[in-house]
Amino acid sequence: MTTVIAPTNIAILKYWGKAREGYHIPTKSSLSFTVKDLFTKTSVDASKGSGKLDFKLNRKKATAKEHSYVASYLKTIASTFPFVNNYDYKITSENNFPTAAGFASSASGFAALLKALVKEVREFGDIDDKKLSALARLGSGSAARSIPSQGGFVKWDRGSGEDWEKDPVYSSYALTLFGPEHWPELRIIYAIVESKEKKVKSRAGMDASVSTNPLYQAWVNYEEGLLKNDMIGAVGEKDFGKLAPMIMQASNNFHSICLGTYPPIHYLKKKSLSIMDSIHEINDDGIKAAYTFDAGPNPVVFTLKKDEHEITKLLEEQIGKENLFRTRPGPGPRYV
Ligand code: DP6
Repeated sequence: MTTVIAPTNIAILKYWGKAREGYHIPTKSSLSFTVKDLFTKTSVDASKGSGKLDFKLNRKKATAKEHSYVASYLKTIASTFPFVNNYDYKITSENNFPTAAGFASSASGFAALLKALVKEVREFGDIDDKKLSALARLGSGSAARSIPSQGGFVKWDRGSGEDWEKDPVYSSYALTLFGPEHWPELRIIYAIVESKEKKVKSRAGMDASVSTNPLYQAWVNYEEGLLKNDMIGAVGEKDFGKLAPMIMQASNNFHSICLGTYPPIHYLKKKSLSIMDSIHEINDDGIKAAYTFDAGPNPVVFTLKKDEHEITKLLEEQIGKENLFRTRPGPGPRYV
């Protein structure tokens, strides 16, 4: 049996749309921080057989839907590595955070599953992080960013149309740009406004945005430029004053892409909006924090060590101490 702990990641420039459906090739590149203390722990036990799957998620027998996600991922991997079909699998997976509440559990989940699988089944041999990232992408796009061993600040490159033609599997993957030690003062605070499952899953939501939002392509072009010119530079320079407004605006532009989808998709709740307002208020006399929201109502707040206390207090007043989780950028997955 092989066990892996893989971290989740939080995007500051979001992935939201596929250029190639079956391959999860993204319409645009994205950027994320690997998160230190939010992870999935997955064990894979493979024995000779015919591809049967026994899957437990969070200590319970997986639902039919959860089971089919994993079974179809094994099939996908088997189309590149046919020997995957010659085993039966016992897989247990556990998240240390609420599943499907906008905390990207599929990112850490598929990253952990893949890393465990390639070690458990010897025929895979040695596969480098680039290829692993591309293969994790086939499970869930954002999982590509949870693979790089160094973790830290990660860029998932969309790749080029020419490369997609030649090699749709390996042409798009994520790499670490700066390890977690690059910016030790950076803090990440997860605030749980609501831990219910989200109504519109990312997968369906992004497809709808691509096909119905008339501003979609303009947004993609704009963000590709932002990434190249500004956002990576701000992280490289550790310039929080420059990075924070870009993070918040990118989050808001993403949510306006959702709202401009037809029928509209909206993930933010009243509480989400009031947290946004209070962060802008506190930033009035100097930038101290930035929020980002994935496909859910829960903010992830970035701040620096010197302001962590003040920002934590601000969030505590709104949603209570028990609903905050403080962490920082961390390393990539590891075997246990
Ligand atoms: C809003 O990676 O869950 O979190 O590739 O269809 O499985 P699929 O989508 P998924 O989408 C994540 C969307 C996001 C933004 C992001 O993490 O970049």
